[in-house]
Amino acid sequence: MKDKDGSFAMCVLVLIGGLILVELAPPIKPIASVQVKILMELKNSLENPDKVLTNWRETDETPCGWTGVTCDPNLKLVTDIDLSNMNLRGLVPSLICDLQNLVSYNVGNNYLGGSFPAKLLHCSKLEYLNLSQNLIVGELPNGISRLQSLRNLDLSGNDFSGSIPPGLSDLPLLESLILTNNLLNDTIPSHLGKLSNLKWLDLAYNSFGGVIPEELGNLSQLLYIRLTKANLSGTIPNSFGNLTQLTYFLDLSYNNLQGSIPSSIMQLPKLSKMELYSNNLSGHIPRDMKNLLSITDIDLSNNSLSGSIPDEIGKLQTLELLHSWGNHLEGEIPPGLADLPKLNKLRLFNNNLSGKIPAGLWNSVHLEIVDLSYNNFQGGISPDVGLATNLTLLILSGNRLNGSIPPEIGNLPKLNKLHLSQNLISGSIPLHLGNLSGLNELFLSDNHFSGTIPPEISKCYQLIQLNLSRNSLTGSIPSELGNLKDLNQLDLSENNLSGEIPVELGKLSFLSFNVSFNKLSGAVPQCLINEKFNTSFIGNADLRAEALKAVKPCSATAADLPAHESSKGPGPLVWAVGGTFAAAALIYLVESCLHFRKYKACFNMEETEGRALWSMTSFHKLGFSEYEVLSSLDEDNVIGTGGAGKVYKATLSNGQEVAIKKLRTEATGDKKHDYGFNAEVETLGKLRHKNIVKLLCCCSSQDAKLLVYDYMPNGSLGDQLHSPKASSLNWATRYKIALGAAEGLAYLHHDYNPTVLHCDVKSNNILLDLDYEARVADFGLARILQTCGKEVSFSSVPGTCGYIAPEYAYTPKVNEKSDIYSFGVVLMELITGKMPVEPEFGDGVDIVRWVCDKLQIKDGGLLEVLDPRLGRGSREDMLPVLKVALLCTRTLPMQRPSMREVVQMLLEAHPKQIHKDAKHFSAKRDSLLVQINLK
Ligand SMILES: *[C@@H]1O[C@H](CO)[C@@H](O)[C@H](O)[C@H]1NC(C)=O
Ligand SMILES: *[C@@H]1O[C@H](CO)[C@@H](O)[C@H](O)[C@H]1NC(C)=O
Repeated sequence: MKDKDGSFAMCVLVLIGGLILVELAPPIKPIASVQVKILMELKNSLENPDKVLTNWRETDETPCGWTGVTCDPNLKLVTDIDLSNMNLRGLVPSLICDLQNLVSYNVGNNYLGGSFPAKLLHCSKLEYLNLSQNLIVGELPNGISRLQSLRNLDLSGNDFSGSIPPGLSDLPLLESLILTNNLLNDTIPSHLGKLSNLKWLDLAYNSFGGVIPEELGNLSQLLYIRLTKANLSGTIPNSFGNLTQLTYFLDLSYNNLQGSIPSSIMQLPKLSKMELYSNNLSGHIPRDMKNLLSITDIDLSNNSLSGSIPDEIGKLQTLELLHSWGNHLEGEIPPGLADLPKLNKLRLFNNNLSGKIPAGLWNSVHLEIVDLSYNNFQGGISPDVGLATNLTLLILSGNRLNGSIPPEIGNLPKLNKLHLSQNLISGSIPLHLGNLSGLNELFLSDNHFSGTIPPEISKCYQLIQLNLSRNSLTGSIPSELGNLKDLNQLDLSENNLSGEIPVELGKLSFLSFNVSFNKLSGAVPQCLINEKFNTSFIGNADLRAEALKAVKPCSATAADLPAHESSKGPGPLVWAVGGTFAAAALIYLVESCLHFRKYKACFNMEETEGRALWSMTSFHKLGFSEYEVLSSLDEDNVIGTGGAGKVYKATLSNGQEVAIKKLRTEATGDKKHDYGFNAEVETLGKLRHKNIVKLLCCCSSQDAKLLVYDYMPNGSLGDQLHSPKASSLNWATRYKIALGAAEGLAYLHHDYNPTVLHCDVKSNNILLDLDYEARVADFGLARILQTCGKEVSFSSVPGTCGYIAPEYAYTPKVNEKSDIYSFGVVLMELITGKMPVEPEFGDGVDIVRWVCDKLQIKDGGLLEVLDPRLGRGSREDMLPVLKVALLCTRTLPMQRPSMREVVQMLLEAHPKQIHKDAKHFSAKRDSLLVQINLK
């Protein structure tokens, strides 16, 4: 191989660099200060002192410049130790109380275990103590009362059990007590009422049992109280009306609280958020709420409340969110509600509300979410709906609405979901719906719509789900629907549609598809012939099942390429094509996919829908519970489907947007496999890097696993690059994404112990945040190296067609180099704008071969490789990145650079840097071209 020399030289350089570092390490000096000694003992008490706190050296004279150490600027005495998020392992370091001036100690979010260290109780000056998000077990010590200066105590996210000891309430200065997410299982003690300075009390997510003590009403300074999901029963104490300073939260959700809502808590003048949902509260909503002067959110959902919604609610000028779904409320929506100047979320579904929806409601430009589904609302939809221009969700299904859809509905540019199913709406489907360019879901099923399907719907280019079933629609299916690239669920069944099924629909990758019970004729487009569509064409007398001689093979790539998460390959070589679509179809599909399968049998898991016990493991401080996660698993919220399961998007009640990945458990029912999963997820949850998508928590039951991530508003690199939006990614952005993703992978490979392999690096797994910063995602197939390196017989090779390193052909063992190959493919996507496998490459040719072949062509081959959508100006900047891509995709794994080297090379390829030094560049470019051509 001619390129051997280059990479060898690079390796030598790196090696020499390492040697120099070792040589220059200064000789050990005598200990210079007591503080250094104490802190070095802290460090050495850890299990992994070599890997953490690397700038803590006993040869230093003072610890004041060390990571995590803050000193008093004059006295140079340590006042503050913050070792949070540093991957510390071992017991909680506790020999720190000899640091006489220490006021703040934070070791949150590490892997520290053992019980609460008694030695810490000697730190009499400590004002702030944070041991949160660790692995600490046992009871809280009563001797905690010795920490008489303590103001803030955060022990959340551990495994503390037992009771809250009386000593804890003998801390006169305590302002903030956070015990969230532990296993505390004795009742909430009434002595907490003694903490007269307490402002912040969070006891959520524990197993207390018993009732809420009346004495908590004595905490007159309280600004915030959260008792979410704490296994509490009984009633809401009337004394809570005394918490007049309460400002941020009164959160009692997810308990078993009964009885009615005391009217006293409707009198808290500073309270902004009242969360009482998911209890057994009954009776009427208290009428007198005029003193809720600051309230923004009221959530009473999922209780047994009856009666009507009080008119007084229409006077709460600050109200932004009103949720009261899942109760037995009746009567009309109070007229005043429509005039509330800030109301933006209104969810009252699943009640017995009636009357007309007040046209006035739509006057509010702030309104974003309206869900009034499954009530008894009547009458028509007012044309004024067009005034609510900020609406994103309009859900009115399951009522008795009639009349027709007003054309003004087309004036809602942000509308994302429009659900009007199961009503009595008639007339034609307005072509103005085509103006809804942000629409993802359009559900109009079970109504009386007539006329034809307007082709204008194809202008809703972001449409994912379209359901027009069970109406009286006539005419043919518009071929323009084939332009809806993201459409993956289409239901037109039980109408009177005629003509042929447009062959254009074959371009799309459907999860579900149904045109049953119409009057369709002709042949079925080839790509729709699939086992899962067995009952999708029934009840059409003239539709022909044999469809093998289609004009043009519908691109197999549509199903096999990663352009959409939803377009995973059609599963392993286990095809049980049923019914009339027999063996010939099978052969066609197998042939068209055979090339991609040489190295691969796709990942297969089976859907299991068991209602079982769920447990949640959280990796960050969370403002939600597993129930909230579970209740978001609505099919309406599906944003994608990958090989390993579905992805849902959810906006939780605290406003946080998350993506929930529901993994299907393996069909074999191998429970051993599940066990490994938990350990793995635990590790992944500890990963902390700006270019790694944040795994917030994992919920698991016997049958399914849910991974909850930060939601990434800009989708995946795959979407951005290969969808119509692609032109918005200029080279500077693409470069930034490449570098960010490389840094994320380098962290996994080099900075984390044990090494984490991704095993499925692809553009669809590189997500983009608001600023187009890359976040590597989906470790669905990743294995911790320990497991990965052993002879694990992967029943399937992990990875995705087009990204899989060639060594998979001869070994099931994987290492970092396979990730690096896949990353090289991603770089090629960024440079060429093409997908890893494209029909234009020809049979059996993937992007790597294609690029290499092009580069062999002397004049102009190189230019053909560069994405024509990028201006000429970018060309020179792209070359060094192309070089990195070529290095990463070398056939022999050992010739590929490490991820760290990749980052380094990409840093050198910074676009601006090259422009700065144009003269130098032309020389550099020449040498680059030489190297590229050698490949
Ligand atoms: C409309 O929504 C945007 C954000 O989605 C918000 O910034 C803006 O203030 C809203 N407009 C009104 C009038 O509420
Ligand atoms: C399609 O719709 C028909 C009629 O509603 C139903 O019987 C059939 O099961 C549906 N098929 C699929 C695949 O959804």
